[in-house]
Amino acid sequence: MDFKTALEFAEESFLAETKKSPTDLQKKIFEKAFEGKTYEKIAEECNCTDSYVKEVGSDLWRILSSKLGKRVSKKSFRNVFEEYDRSSSSATQPTTKLPEVETRCRQDWGEAPDVSIFYGRTEELTELRRWIVADKCRLVALFGMGGIGKTSLAVKLGKQIQNDFDRIIWRSLDRTPSLNIFLTEIIKFICNEQETNLPPTPSDPISLAIECLNLHRCLLIIDGIEAIMETGKLAGKYREGYQDYGKFFQKAAQLNHKSCVVFTSSEKPQEISLLATRIRQVRFYKIGGLTNEAAKQILLDRELVEEKEWHDFIERYEGNPLALWMISATVVNLFAGKTSDFLKTGTVFLGQVEGVLCEMFDRLTDVEVKVLCQLAVINQPISFSRLRDEISLDISSSVLMNVLESLSGRSLIETEVGQDLFRLQPVIRKYTIARFCQISS
Ligand SMILES: Nc1ncnc2c1ncn2[C@@H]1O[C@H](COP(=O)(O)OP(=O)(O)OP(=O)(O)O)[C@@H](O)[C@H]1O
Ligand SMILES: [Mg+2]
Repeated sequence: MDFKTALEFAEESFLAETKKSPTDLQKKIFEKAFEGKTYEKIAEECNCTDSYVKEVGSDLWRILSSKLGKRVSKKSFRNVFEEYDRSSSSATQPTTKLPEVETRCRQDWGEAPDVSIFYGRTEELTELRRWIVADKCRLVALFGMGGIGKTSLAVKLGKQIQNDFDRIIWRSLDRTPSLNIFLTEIIKFICNEQETNLPPTPSDPISLAIECLNLHRCLLIIDGIEAIMETGKLAGKYREGYQDYGKFFQKAAQLNHKSCVVFTSSEKPQEISLLATRIRQVRFYKIGGLTNEAAKQILLDRELVEEKEWHDFIERYEGNPLALWMISATVVNLFAGKTSDFLKTGTVFLGQVEGVLCEMFDRLTDVEVKVLCQLAVINQPISFSRLRDEISLDISSSVLMNVLESLSGRSLIETEVGQDLFRLQPVIRKYTIARFCQISS
């Protein structure tokens, strides 16, 4: 194995084990150990003490040992890597390498948040459970605006249906891993790397991952895929270097396997709508605000007063749990917990919700911003044809349609139930006006 391949393998294994990349010093130690240098020599060349280099080095070997399930040391790592390399190059038929099905259920919840405080969502959970457990959906996508509760709902759902699965794995895409690194880790978890000869870096990770998903019944939950979506373009396109995630989702949707991939996103990838119309086992769920009853539980926890007045407050924030948790803290601090006094100020106060909105708006194209501004100024539900006639923008009907679809895919515009009318939530309108309207008008 050459040095470049060895270093890549070490970096991937390190990242998979620690969720961090090795430090520069660890990489240097690896490089010099690869050249067969002693710790004394390495210390001299790295301008460090011998003991420090030994300490950092042994930490590195310990992490690699733990990831590879085999003792790795400064002396042995090249041999261990060679062994993996050999098994990897004969991995053209991955099926032969996968272990026999075992029945034990294994779970890895990674950095999934605690959902011990979770109110309502009974209808959502019932429907999603039916899709996954009874209808055996292969791909389920959860969409909704920032802070609406996508992550929390996905965790709660996973916990509720865990008995239906042999494997549960939760991963967030916050750190935007490449698909190869992501899937390699998933494959190793599903197939229990200790018991297999899986290659360290599979040559076709997508096919191998689908095989694993067919070998065991797995629930793979991928949180926050907007992190790998492009900003500054209409919604739903992957960032440069992440398009292969789309291929993975397509294969997970189209090919036969016995698992379910669930992902959450504030932005709908373009191919998902198409897949959902063609394949019964692919569905997407748009998550709305909490019901009045569930939202009230949050306000009770915050110890707001005058319960009879809460309805308007919940409506103003459209049951968005993040907004309710954050703004109710302000109501307690500045208005002695009285929502009516707060609402009398007549302002749609954004407070810390502004940060969440700012992230969502940073993703928009100029033309999306302009259309949002128009909707904010019109300030009432409006049909497509009226909007097209009233809009003071020089864009064709088809561009306007694309823009409205994109804004809807980002949950920034709502459609009135059973009607063809678009509208903005009060919070979105307020933020649009505050941030853009003076500029664009
Ligand atoms: N059903 C619920 N009951 C009580 N609190 C909730 C509920 N759902 C979400 N929350 C709380 O609301 C906040 C936002 O939830 P969450 O992080 O799940 O939203 P999100 O849609 O994933 O947000 P983002 O778009 O930032 O990823 C969190 O503090 C969470 O604990
Ligand atoms: Mg989230």
